[in-house]
Amino acid sequence: MPATPGLVGVILAGGSGSRLYPCTKVTNKHLLPIGDMPMIFYPLKKLVGAGITDILIVTGTEHMGDFISLLGSGKDFGCRLTYRVQDDAGGIAQALALAERFANGQPMCVILGDNIFEDSIKDTIGIFMKDPSAAHIILKEVPDAERFGVAIINGNRITKIIEKPDEPPTQLAVTGIYCYPGDVFDIIKGLKPSARNELEITDVNNEYIGAGRLGYSMFDGYWSDAGTFSSLAKANELVRSATPNF
Ligand code: G1P
Repeated sequence: MPATPGLVGVILAGGSGSRLYPCTKVTNKHLLPIGDMPMIFYPLKKLVGAGITDILIVTGTEHMGDFISLLGSGKDFGCRLTYRVQDDAGGIAQALALAERFANGQPMCVILGDNIFEDSIKDTIGIFMKDPSAAHIILKEVPDAERFGVAIINGNRITKIIEKPDEPPTQLAVTGIYCYPGDVFDIIKGLKPSARNELEITDVNNEYIGAGRLGYSMFDGYWSDAGTFSSLAKANELVRSATPNF
């Protein structure tokens, strides 16, 4: 895949991994195995497969050295890696804010490092790059939507996203793959912390909805996060059942 100019990638790989303790006592969640590779390889290969070769990895202080030992400059993956330390975990949007200087006004594709999915993101990136002034997300129908951001749809537009609702209005989970214009950082600067004291990516997406600037695609293939023992086991099973398309 030829490089997509003017588009950068961001992998958010921070967090304490508390739900996977004690497996995360001496390592980071994103370094645990899925199939025959460390978890972080999956989002990295997805971005490179979609022609994104300038990629920022954001993670905490404790295991940054391990990420660098594992991934190096990125040359073995066909990309150029930059690393940025997240001192304190304060939510996905707070972690993304650390990418502002790296992105330097360019549009970006952001992947949560624990999202494991079958489909290539090439098509989604193609749609996004036709109009990179509008954000673009990917939805997946799931049986346990209350664990995720949940989208309400009217016609072909998302009208609202609700973060982890007790009673999900739809089964449409917002996956952790987000394409944003360069102005996403202005939106993050205006956010207020949520009840769980985090800057929520769902609030960012709702701002784009309010501005009429949020498109979406659907995943056809499997998708799972991998932040709990059951979802980590599921992600392993899914990858064994069918190798993801990078
Ligand atoms: C985050 C987002 C949520 C999204 C999910 C995808 O949740 O807040 O909207 O659906 O990632 O993996 P987290 O798992 O960080 O609580």
